[in-house]
Amino acid sequence: MKLWNKKVAGATVLTMSLLLAACSGDDESTDTGNNDAGSDTGGDDGATEEQEQVTITYAAGVDVTGATDKLIEEFEAQNPNIDVEYREMPADTGASHDQYVTMFSSQDASIDVFDADVIWPAEFAQGQYALELDRFIEADGINMDDYFPGTVASGQFNGRQYAMPKFTDAGLLYYRTDIVETPPTTWDELMTMAAELQGEAGTEFGYLMQANQYEGMVTNAIEFIASHGGQVVDENNEVVVNSPETIAGIQTMIDIVNSDFVPSNILSFQETETNNAWVGGQAVFARNWPYMQSTSADEEASEVAGNVGFATLPEGDAGSAATLGGWMTMINRYSENQEAAWEFVKFMTGAEGQTISAVEGGRAPTIEALYEETEVQEAATLFANEQFVETLQNAVPRPVTPIYPRISDIMQVQLSRALAGEITAEEAAANMQEEMEAAMAE
Ligand code: GLC
Repeated sequence: MKLWNKKVAGATVLTMSLLLAACSGDDESTDTGNNDAGSDTGGDDGATEEQEQVTITYAAGVDVTGATDKLIEEFEAQNPNIDVEYREMPADTGASHDQYVTMFSSQDASIDVFDADVIWPAEFAQGQYALELDRFIEADGINMDDYFPGTVASGQFNGRQYAMPKFTDAGLLYYRTDIVETPPTTWDELMTMAAELQGEAGTEFGYLMQANQYEGMVTNAIEFIASHGGQVVDENNEVVVNSPETIAGIQTMIDIVNSDFVPSNILSFQETETNNAWVGGQAVFARNWPYMQSTSADEEASEVAGNVGFATLPEGDAGSAATLGGWMTMINRYSENQEAAWEFVKFMTGAEGQTISAVEGGRAPTIEALYEETEVQEAATLFANEQFVETLQNAVPRPVTPIYPRISDIMQVQLSRALAGEITAEEAAANMQEEMEAAMAE
């Protein structure tokens, strides 16, 4: 309750500053030209009268919501000397990642700003692909305490900030309010209810999740593992995945994947398959990211509009756990327009940009106070839900390490084998431990 009051107070301050910012739109662009943020690069500082026209390239995954276009449009209106060119990247996080690595490892400067999955910053910092942002953050007086701590931590490497949080994701349990009165609180309850209620109101399945061999399956696995008290890598960067807690988590995941209440092709389910089956009215419960709240509510495309509730994911022995997902914004270390790039990053990840992302794109803000803004609350009922904000605050990050792609790959292979019944939960945990230790030692 105390926290709630604090949030309200913060929101008032924020509303004021948004109003002030809105009233002084011109100042913003003057600011950009004089650029306190990085005047140390020299050359054109001093008595600059004419603002030089700059074009920056911004890369981000396919965005069907229109939020990206709106962000660029607003930014350009406020910064007439900066043009933003949008380069569309694949929607799939793994595919985008590989393209960036190819470009940045050859010091390609054609992209200035890019969106990064929360699992990339450490790797991109270590690989010297990304610009360190602390001096910009300090010069512009940005208070990182305004952001959810987990999202800030995802952008750090060796104590420095390499990425600014743009929007956040956390796994949620969706349920059909026309079938379920009270959502389950434990995995055992979920399994009992999914088996019992499957078939009601024309549904085919009790539960949907992401079990395909890809990054999204790793996020599901971490929820099972953490809700049973297990961890993959601990605070000291030690691999601790082979524990009774982790094994219990994997076992629950195996039990659900092999139950009769999930689709028989659950091993090929990613977010898209989950969303399609869900909005088609095929399931009683589903695990997905916050965006499915928007697709569920779409009167035209969804058969379940008005019949969808959401809750925290079920508890294991150690409580409920949601994996922290989301996207950040970073600057290419080889960008030739670093000051302008920062202005765009600052805009997109600041209060105004995040409000655009929430309202136009249904993305969950990383600035806590925005959840008190009427505009944001009206964009999606989820954003007005106190429990959801708590879930975001407590979300479990994936291991923060430059070799995260390796760690994820090991999990994907071993867990897929366990889900397919080729190895036991114990064997999967032992294999992951051994392979991750070897990978970390390299
Ligand atoms: C969502 C999350 C991202 C995660 C991905 C997995 O896009 O925001 O962090 O890696 O799903 O599919």
